[in-house]
Amino acid sequence: MRRELAVAYHDNHFERPLIGLTPTLGALHAGHRALIDRMVAECDVSIVSIFLNPRQFDSADDLEQYPRMLDDDLKVCAAAGVHLVFAPGEQDVYPPGYSTTVGVQGLTDRWCGAGRPGHFDGVTTVVAKLLTACQPDRAYFGEKDFQQLRVVQRMVRDLELSVEIVPCPTVREPDGLALSSRNQYLAPDARAVAPRLFEALKRMAACFTGGVHDAASLIVEGEHVLHEGGGPKIEVEYLAAVDPKTLEPRVEARLGDRILIAATIGDTRLIDNIALTGEEVGD
Ligand code: PAJ
Repeated sequence: MRRELAVAYHDNHFERPLIGLTPTLGALHAGHRALIDRMVAECDVSIVSIFLNPRQFDSADDLEQYPRMLDDDLKVCAAAGVHLVFAPGEQDVYPPGYSTTVGVQGLTDRWCGAGRPGHFDGVTTVVAKLLTACQPDRAYFGEKDFQQLRVVQRMVRDLELSVEIVPCPTVREPDGLALSSRNQYLAPDARAVAPRLFEALKRMAACFTGGVHDAASLIVEGEHVLHEGGGPKIEVEYLAAVDPKTLEPRVEARLGDRILIAATIGDTRLIDNIALTGEEVGD
């Protein structure tokens, strides 16, 4: 018996499987699917959580109209080879008397944190709960939500949670618009101008590569792209070059910085970002 155990151990039969988690709000699209596919390829056990977390919505209307399509989502997960879908109810996550909030200071003050009060506390609280419930070795997050990624990484570091946060690149439509569950709210004329967000980011990255490092000049270039041509107005909430670690705005952009944008077209709020790599920026 002892010998068998030793052999089994030697053959790694007793090794803990590598557990992956991809947290989502549901309404899965190809952006989520990229995270899920990577998780399935890298992990022994793959978990997708689907929970429309009310605490991270700053408006009741936004929560109300958010798409819910659990049956379709389950099919997406099954097709991707996910082993387990964790879809708790609101009472499971926040039972009566629930009173704990996990909040990251500083990183959440600006950008989406300023425009959506309480949003990041809702995100970090639920992500902490999902990590605790699923105990993954790796958790997959999209760079599309760059501030969220940084905030979650900081929470994991500060609380010394034993999980590796895996950042995944942004998946885009062929015209450059970053995939988002909110894209379906865009009216046709708004959808037509929405790719300008990424075009503006690319123009700014190209200008940086071309030697323009002054952040204000880069922003002028970006705004020019956003507002040139006709169509519905793109209302910019923020457009900034930031330190990729602290998310503090730069006066002079540096290699490796991120440009972050949030803008509203009609009633739909979109966010996107790009890294300043110093390389040629393609179409
Ligand atoms: P959700 O918006 O459903 O996104 C789930 C994950 O998919 C996030 O990590 C997000 O960054 C990533 N994602 C969304 N669109 C993407 C795209 N076009 N390309 C690459 N990744 C993309 O973000 C949340 O849910 C919630 O805040 C959550 C972390 C689940 C906490 O409730």
